[in-house]
Amino acid sequence: MKFQKEISGTTELYALIGNPVSHSISPAMHNDAFAYYGMDARYLAFKVRSENLESALKGMVALGFKGFNVTMPHKREICQYLDALAENAALIGAVNTVVLSENGRTVGHNTDASGFISMMGDHGIAMGGKTMVQIGAGGAGRAIAIQVALEGLKKLILINRTIEKALALKELIEKHTDTQVEVCALEDEKSYLDRIENSDVLVNTSSVGMAETGSEFSFLKKVTFPNYVVDIIYNPDETELLLEAKKQGAQIIKGIEMLHWQGADAFTLWMGRPYATSSS
Ligand code: ATR
Repeated sequence: MKFQKEISGTTELYALIGNPVSHSISPAMHNDAFAYYGMDARYLAFKVRSENLESALKGMVALGFKGFNVTMPHKREICQYLDALAENAALIGAVNTVVLSENGRTVGHNTDASGFISMMGDHGIAMGGKTMVQIGAGGAGRAIAIQVALEGLKKLILINRTIEKALALKELIEKHTDTQVEVCALEDEKSYLDRIENSDVLVNTSSVGMAETGSEFSFLKKVTFPNYVVDIIYNPDETELLLEAKKQGAQIIKGIEMLHWQGADAFTLWMGRPYATSSS
């Protein structure tokens, strides 16, 4: 049951800014938690065009918003306008959560990245000292790879269709962390089948397997999966990768969980307490 507090003269405001935002689950997610805790707060979604990003930020500061999320296409652009960046956000070069303090100071964080660590922790897995194989080196892949390296991952095997992108990410990670990075081309299956088998975690951050793309990995029937297989795709709910991994008895972690944890981590940054709702 929900006990949504009435909007009053003291209601605190949180928001999502991006374009588009109408599909977002964030308003429902955060308002449910505000209701659960009986908080005098509301979360709204605002469609903000790129040319209005800076003025939208200034407006939220002026109006005393307590925090906001940032989604496509503003995650990189917003960084230049903030007062400070958390270590992960600075290295990744993208922010999805901003915390505003009483005096209007803005600090950017990346819970797309930290959410991965929280999600793995929820499954009892600490990434420190582990070996992880990651497919994909795009925006989401960059965030996750950098975050696991900051968490003390021992070895990262990066598989990508475009090798140059994976090499650039390897260089950045090896410059800033102690994680050892190896790079493989997606088309060169023999270079990574054994590496997947010998790893602790396999994660797909690429769009291969997404319902809209119709593309699929060619190695699925040839590989022995590690204990944990993660896919950040949430449509379909269980990708072919996860279905094959499940057949082999691997523990699978679905994209919907990533979506939950990026929101849960944002809530904790703003509120200093764990995300919870009456149904959780
Ligand atoms: P996101 O922000 O969701 O990570 P992105 O930055 O466009 O999106 O990254 C998409 C990732 O999926 C990239 O790793 C991309 O590979 P490239 O770097 O070679 O572009 C990968 N990807 C997308 N379509 C693919 C396909 N058909 N086959 C293999 N990899 C694909």
